[in-house]
Amino acid sequence: MSYNKENYRRVMAEFSKKNLEAKTDAEKRRDELHRLFPEIAKIDSTLSQTGARIFGEAMKGKAGLDMRISKLQNEVNELSSIRAELLKKHGYPEDYGAVHYECEECEDTGFVGEKMCKCLKTALVMAGYESSGIGKLLKTQSFDTFDLSYYKGNAENFRRMEANFAKCRAFAENFDTKAPENLLMFGGTGLGKTHLSTSIARVVIDRGYDVLYVSSHTLFSEFEREQFGKGDADTRKYFDSELLIIDDLGTEASNRFTVSCLYNLINSRLLDEKSTIINTNLSHSELLNTYQDRIASRILGEYTQLPFAGKDVRMQKLTAKNG
Ligand SMILES: Nc1ncnc2c1ncn2[C@@H]1O[C@H](COP(=O)(O)OP(=O)(O)O)[C@@H](O)[C@H]1O
Ligand SMILES: [Mg+2]
Ligand SMILES: [Zn+2]
Repeated sequence: MSYNKENYRRVMAEFSKKNLEAKTDAEKRRDELHRLFPEIAKIDSTLSQTGARIFGEAMKGKAGLDMRISKLQNEVNELSSIRAELLKKHGYPEDYGAVHYECEECEDTGFVGEKMCKCLKTALVMAGYESSGIGKLLKTQSFDTFDLSYYKGNAENFRRMEANFAKCRAFAENFDTKAPENLLMFGGTGLGKTHLSTSIARVVIDRGYDVLYVSSHTLFSEFEREQFGKGDADTRKYFDSELLIIDDLGTEASNRFTVSCLYNLINSRLLDEKSTIINTNLSHSELLNTYQDRIASRILGEYTQLPFAGKDVRMQKLTAKNG
């Protein structure tokens, strides 16, 4: 797995900033204490030399070292409790001068030893949701909210959708950049193609992969903007992401230039062994009519075909609501 690099850089920068701020905030609070209460300043100055003093005792030789160290330890304990008393007397919490990290486990560094801390993983997943382009859809669409009973009207449709659902779940749970697979979801409007692809995206992002979702409309217009230098389009990300989801292929305004960009994208991803999911309302023959043979043959030949069937779920939901 490899989190989106741009997100990783940004999140790590945020962590460094948090870690530094926690330290400087603590320093400010300690300075404040020292300014107001010289006794505490004196104690802190003594306590800060503890390490050096232990070292000094050790250098004096082994004879009676244990005793000398334990004497030193007692002194430190006593000073600490005097310090705590002073803070209490002046109405400050005992840990007022201590560093308060957002995550005590990794002290806001994102790492515990070599291992990524849970808090960093969570931050990267959140950033992944954000940068995936799915945004709002992720709130309502997941495997858990996908209801197969909408397809019960017809036994064959039901079996088909049950198989699609199982396939999508397995695709997400087993997603592996070393074993790339492509999906073509095709069928009428409102049958759950977008819903199942965002459900896949969520699971794959949760598992730490870099996912990008884009409508074919946006994709084609970004190719054009990049070519004709309007705005700051960057189509590189569509080639780079570990999983790319192109939604609603066939609804875009296309021309020869954009179609050749699409070919280039699909072909490059196949050659680079990167997984792609394409959703479309077009049938196979419509795909063949709309795009060049070399595009259609790849989408039909190199993608696992998932035919969607049933009655428009959006309409079913509306009818149910309106009685
Ligand atoms: N099986 C399902 N269970 C629950 N909601 C569904 C299901 N299929 C579709 N929906 C919902 O119906 C609406 C249309 O589905 P969508 O996935 O956009 O269809 P498509 O992409 O095939 O046109 C969305 O709001 C989606 O969440
Ligand atoms: Mg859709
Ligand atoms: Zn942490």
